[in-house]
Amino acid sequence: MIKQAIIPLAGLGTRLLPLTSVFAKELLPINGRPGIEYIIDECIEAGIKEIIFIISKKKMMIKNYFYSDRFYKNLIKKKKDPRIIKEYKKLLKYKKMIKFVYQNVPKGTGDAVLKTKRFIKDKYFLMLLPDDLIIKKNCSKSMINLHQKYKSSVMASMQVNKSTVSRWGIYNLSKRLSKSDYLISDVVEKPSIKDAPSNKAVIGRYILPKTIFKKLKNQNSGNGGEIHITDAIQSLIKDNENFIAHNFSGKYLDCGTMNGYINSGKKISNL
Ligand code: G1P
Repeated sequence: MIKQAIIPLAGLGTRLLPLTSVFAKELLPINGRPGIEYIIDECIEAGIKEIIFIISKKKMMIKNYFYSDRFYKNLIKKKKDPRIIKEYKKLLKYKKMIKFVYQNVPKGTGDAVLKTKRFIKDKYFLMLLPDDLIIKKNCSKSMINLHQKYKSSVMASMQVNKSTVSRWGIYNLSKRLSKSDYLISDVVEKPSIKDAPSNKAVIGRYILPKTIFKKLKNQNSGNGGEIHITDAIQSLIKDNENFIAHNFSGKYLDCGTMNGYINSGKKISNL
C-alpha cells in the first residue's frame, strides 16, 4: 500500500505574480479554501497517512498556516465560535500528518524530491504537484489502485492541444493495458512541437519508486538549469522500471496561471 505522499511547495510561483511576491500561491483561496487543502483532502481520501511538504524559508507562511495553535487557542477561549473551532480542528488533523523539509534554492522538481529521501519508508510513494487540481474523481486513488494491480509506477496523463506540448512533460506510449491506461516507453520534458512524441501530457500526480533517489543524486541539470523529475523517470524506464500513463477521468484545473486560477474558483463554486 502507498502510505506516503510528497508535495513540492518551494516554487516561486512567477506565473501568478504579482500575488506571489508576498503570498504563497498554494494558500491562495479557491472558492474560499486554500488550494493546498483540496490536495490534502485528495491524499486523505486515497488512504495516505503521511504527507511531506517541501517548502523554503521564503514560504514559511505555509508552515505557519498549520502551526498557529496559540492564535486559535486564545481566540477560542475568548469567543466560543463553532466555526472557528471547526476550522481549528481541521487544521490540527492536517498538521498531524504533515512533515516539513526545506528546498531553499529552487533547483527544480527533481531536486525537491531528493530532499525527501530520508523520510520515504516504502518502495513506492505518491507525489502531487499543487498547481494541478483534479476534481470530481480522486485521481490519486485510481492511481494507487492501478499500482496495486500492476506493481509499477504510475503517472497521470491528459490529452493536450498539440500547439501546447512545450509546456508539459510528453509521453511516448507503448502497450495499451486498458481503455485509460498505457505503458510508456519514454517521457520528455517540454519538447518542441517538432520533437514531441505525442500530445499526451504528464499531469502532476506520480507514483514513483524509491529507486528514483539514486537517479536524482547523480543527475545533471537539464532544460533551464533545473533538475527535472522527468529526466530521472526517463532513466528509470531505460533500466526497465514499468511506468503506466493513467488517463484520469476527473476534471483538470490548472491553478498555476492567472487565468487557470480564476477559472478554478468558478468551476469549484459550480460543483
Ligand atoms: C511540471 C512537470 C511537467 C508536467 C507539469 C504538469 O512542469 O515538469 O512534466 O507536465 O508539471 O503540470 P511545471 O508545471 O513545473 O513547469
